[in-house]
Amino acid sequence: MMPGEGSTEESSGDYAQGGRPGSPDMFDGIVEGYDFLNRILSLGMDQRWRRSTVQTLDLAPNARVLDLATGTGDLALALSNRHGARTVVGLDPSPSMLASARRKQEKAKARILLIRGDAHMLPFSDGSFDAVTVAFGVRNFSQRALALHEIRRVLEPGGRLVVLELSPPPKGLSGLLTRLWVRSAVPFIGARFSSGVAYRYLEQSVCAFPRPAEFAEELESTGLTVLEIRQLTFGACCLFVAERSLG
Ligand SMILES: C[S@@+](CC[C@H](N)C(=O)[O-])C[C@H]1O[C@@H](n2cnc3c(N)ncnc32)[C@H](O)[C@@H]1O
Repeated sequence: MMPGEGSTEESSGDYAQGGRPGSPDMFDGIVEGYDFLNRILSLGMDQRWRRSTVQTLDLAPNARVLDLATGTGDLALALSNRHGARTVVGLDPSPSMLASARRKQEKAKARILLIRGDAHMLPFSDGSFDAVTVAFGVRNFSQRALALHEIRRVLEPGGRLVVLELSPPPKGLSGLLTRLWVRSAVPFIGARFSSGVAYRYLEQSVCAFPRPAEFAEELESTGLTVLEIRQLTFGACCLFVAERSLG
């Protein structure tokens, strides 16, 4: 299927049940206040990190971009603002996150196609996109290797994947400060304004995520060529740029 065809936000699907940490059900439950907490917990850096993600993509006219795990749509909106007339598709399994993205999209009069779906089974035919972006989403995929294979499949040969992800705190003073913030402030503030469970999961999933070099190896073993690993804000966040080879 090509972007723009078939299932939309209203379609049914076989989504995770039971609110497993990181599942769409969990995100359904924290959509209220999600953007506000993103700004607070990242100390105002999250939108800057998304802008860096957009800037790394140098897209041709009419390029097709998939923003996977689009959530409330901040990255899809940034892509649409910068890449105007090009096709931007935002996909996420959480109906509430998508509803929030839709409200923002309508307010901004942006042209984004929002689709309910799962990264492990993308509803697109091979080579449908020139670029795929994922911001703070890869950590939540229950079968990361499968999702990465799906991403590679829907990328056109020569197409780019840009992943923005929080990193396990590095060694040294900046790592110590990040660790203190992620282990203490994040669950505390999260519990005050949203769900304690969800924001404890954030801390646990960040610490459990592979270090940048290890995640780069996962990308390479999927058949993607890693072009760049850029650490942002003292290594709190990392941007990975990879390409599906032409062969
Ligand atoms: C931390 S939010 C990130 C949202 C957005 N990209 C951002 O920059 O704020 C993670 C998102 O991953 C989504 N997600 C969880 N499991 C997923 C899956 N299997 N496939 C696609 N998205 C998934 C959640 O519904 C949630 O919206």
